[in-house]
Amino acid sequence: MATLRLVTLRLLNGSSSLSRCLFPRTQIFTVRAFSAAMSPPSTAVVYDQHGPPDSVTRVTELPPVEIKENDVCVRMLAAPINPSDINRIEGVYPVRPPVPAVGGYEGVGVVHSMGAAVKNFSPGDWVIPSPPSSGTWQTYVVNEQNMWHKIDKGTPIEYAATITVNPLSALRMLEDFMDLKAGDAIVQNGATSIVGQCLIQLARIRGIHSINIIRDRAGSDEIKETLQKFGADEVFTESQLELKNVKGLLAKIPEPALGFNCVGGNPASLVLKFLRQGGTMVTYGGMSKKPITISTSSFIFKDLSLRGFWLQKWMSSDKAIQCRNMIDYLLGLAREGKLTYAMELAPFSDFHSALDKALGKQGSQPKQVIKF
Ligand SMILES: NC(=O)c1ccc[n+]([C@@H]2O[C@H](COP(=O)([O-])OP(=O)(O)OC[C@H]3O[C@@H](n4cnc5c(N)ncnc54)[C@H](OP(=O)(O)O)[C@@H]3O)[C@@H](O)[C@H]2O)c1
Repeated sequence: MATLRLVTLRLLNGSSSLSRCLFPRTQIFTVRAFSAAMSPPSTAVVYDQHGPPDSVTRVTELPPVEIKENDVCVRMLAAPINPSDINRIEGVYPVRPPVPAVGGYEGVGVVHSMGAAVKNFSPGDWVIPSPPSSGTWQTYVVNEQNMWHKIDKGTPIEYAATITVNPLSALRMLEDFMDLKAGDAIVQNGATSIVGQCLIQLARIRGIHSINIIRDRAGSDEIKETLQKFGADEVFTESQLELKNVKGLLAKIPEPALGFNCVGGNPASLVLKFLRQGGTMVTYGGMSKKPITISTSSFIFKDLSLRGFWLQKWMSSDKAIQCRNMIDYLLGLAREGKLTYAMELAPFSDFHSALDKALGKQGSQPKQVIKF
């Protein structure tokens, strides 16, 4: 009955903005109170087809969905716009939800209501989807209880919203490819990315040195300072590395055995140049959309190895059962201020401006995190 009333209100009013004008939040909540087994309607970023995210996404209202006995209905608090979210909408990501789909893959929310069989959650708990799952760019998400992980409410929402995709990737890549010890070194490009910022800090916590490559851009001196505050031993712009012997730039740091590449093209070659004999470069992103070129001699005389990392694949392996402990560890670091990275909270009403920033239309910008 109550559900019917909600749907009727929405249909009568047509657009969601008109609906919000005529039926202020308090009245909508009154109606919800009668609708124990249904979620509230959800305002969502939906795409009906793949294509450029700024033209195929629209903000729209979705009808209430049933909350089954094992389900938890979560009111989303915040969710980031990650490069992989953009790739999913573009239709170029290997795993993507069927369209029409709601954007987003990770985020944080507060438990709104639960099905009768749910015992381990209470309204007001903060939860993150774990493993992450599609559809976080909306105000209410309903999913089975085992898909939610309860977290400490003392965590700043922007960190709670972003802790899985990038920080967890940084942690896994640092630990899974090589047994690095204190005093060893890593090298990476894309050091201004969230993954890059996390790699620097997680390496420092382990006593591992980091050599970092950033793009040439206005304000690169300030960026260097920020990364050095995070613990970066060396930060170079790409143009500073246009020389034959890049290793001559390393004063007290040993040649790195492990490198990370999220850019491709020339910045990937720069990572390879730093690697020591028998070193490994792990590619986890391709921001420049350019291929990696490696010389024949790098294989023959340096015996370099090229590997890849994909969190989504790692999550579906046996190791993923430890994932939530790792998330709690990372959230703890964030709360203690030992893991920080640049983000900008953007109100949901400004979603398309935030999306433009995430698409790089305004040059380099901090990670955009939507606040619902
Ligand atoms: N394989 C995996 O499982 C996995 C997991 C997490 C992330 N990733 C990938 O890791 C990469 C970084 O993700 P993130 O969320 O940490 O990034 P982010 O915080 O959104 O930052 C984007 C980064 O990309 C750089 N960038 C943007 N456009 C570029 C271009 N045309 N050429 C060179 N660099 C460019 C930016 O440099 P400026 O600061 O100079 O603008 C910045 O360092 C992405 O490719 C993402 O898909 C992969």
